[in-house]
Amino acid sequence: MTYLPSGDRYDAMTYRRAGRSGVRLPAVSLGLWHNFGHERPIERMAAICRRAFDLGVTHFDLANNYGPPPGSAEENFGRIMARDLKPYRDEMIVSTKAGYLMWPGPYGEWGSRKYLISSLDQSLKRMGLDYVDVFYHHRPDPDTPLEESMQALDYAVRSGRALYVAISNYSSAQTAEAAKILHDLGTPLLLHQPSYSMMNRWIERDSLLDTLAGAGAGCIAYSPLQQGLLTDRYLDGVPADSRVATGGFLKESALDEQTMRVVRELNLIAKERGQTLAQLALAWALRDERMTSLIIGASSVGQLEDNIGALANLALSAAELDAIDGALTNPA
Ligand SMILES: NC(=O)c1ccc[n+]([C@@H]2O[C@H](COP(=O)([O-])OP(=O)(O)OC[C@H]3O[C@@H](n4cnc5c(N)ncnc54)[C@H](OP(=O)(O)O)[C@@H]3O)[C@@H](O)[C@H]2O)c1
Repeated sequence: MTYLPSGDRYDAMTYRRAGRSGVRLPAVSLGLWHNFGHERPIERMAAICRRAFDLGVTHFDLANNYGPPPGSAEENFGRIMARDLKPYRDEMIVSTKAGYLMWPGPYGEWGSRKYLISSLDQSLKRMGLDYVDVFYHHRPDPDTPLEESMQALDYAVRSGRALYVAISNYSSAQTAEAAKILHDLGTPLLLHQPSYSMMNRWIERDSLLDTLAGAGAGCIAYSPLQQGLLTDRYLDGVPADSRVATGGFLKESALDEQTMRVVRELNLIAKERGQTLAQLALAWALRDERMTSLIIGASSVGQLEDNIGALANLALSAAELDAIDGALTNPA
C-alpha cells in the first residue's frame, strides 16, 4: 500500500536551529546505528521510519558502517526511501558519516581524502540517493592532517554529494581548529555530533557548547538514553530482545548494582513528573537551547513514540535538576 504521511506531521514537533545556519532540525532525530541491520525484519524498520516521519522527525542519521553487517543500515534505509519516503526527500535531512573501518587496506578508514570521498560515493549508492544533506567526519584521525580531512568535506559539498558538513567525536580544541579551516574554505561547519547523556557529561567539562556557539555550529548528541540504560528497559532484568541480550554495543557489565540504583532513583523522579525515564533523560539533555537535537535509537514504534512524548514537557525546575544531580552522584 502506498504510504501517505500524516497531514499534521509538523504540528507538534519542536524544531531547533543548527547554530547560525539556515537549517532547523527536529529536537528528536532518529538514528539507524542499531536495529536497522539485515538481521531485523525490514517491515519493522520501515514502520519505525514512517512513524517517525509522521511525528515530524525529519532527520535520519546514518553512517557507512551501521548494520550489522556494515553498510546494511544504509541499504535498508535505501529500500525504505525507495518504497515509502522518496516523494518527501525535500522534507528530509539525511546524514551519513565516514571515519571507522569499512573496507580492508590503507584507504578503508580514518580521514584521508581518498577514503572519505570513496566512502561517501558508496553510501550514496547504498541509499540510492543523489546527495546527502549532511556528511560527517566520524572521528578525528591522529595521522592525517586536519586540513586534508576538512578539504575532503569541502569537496563533498562543492561536488554536489553533500549540502552541509559536520564532525563527530572531536574534542573542543579539535572542533575549534576544524571549524576555522572549514570557515576559511567557505564551507561552514554545520554540526558536531558528540555522545551525551546524564551518565556521560564530557562535553560539559570540555565546554563544547561554548566552542560550537563561537563557531556558529549546532550540536546534535548521540546515545542520550545511554543506549537504553536511561529507560525502563533494564529495571526488571535483561529482556531477551534488548541491546544487551542481542550482542549490541551495550554490555551487561554496564548494568552493575550501583548504576541500577541510580537508574531506579531517576525513574522515581521521572514518575513524579508524570514522565517515563526515557522522556526525563531526553528533556534533561535538551535543557540547553544550544543543543540542536538528540539522536535516539528505537527498536520499536512504541519506543519511538515514548521518546517523542518527551517534547510535551521539557521544563525542568532547579529542584528537579538538583534531584537528578543528587541521584547521579549519590543515590539513596
Ligand atoms: N557519531 C557516533 O560516533 C555515534 C555513536 C553512536 C550512536 N550514534 C548515533 O546515535 C543514534 C542513537 O544511538 P543509540 O541507539 O545508542 O541511542 P539511545 O537512544 O541512547 O539508545 C537507543 C536504545 O535504547 C532503547 N530505547 C530507546 N527508547 C526507549 C524507550 N522509550 N523505552 C525503553 N527503551 C528504549 C532501545 O534499546 P533496545 O534495542 O534494547 O530496545 C534502543 O535501541 C545512533 O543510531 C546513531 O545514529 C552516533
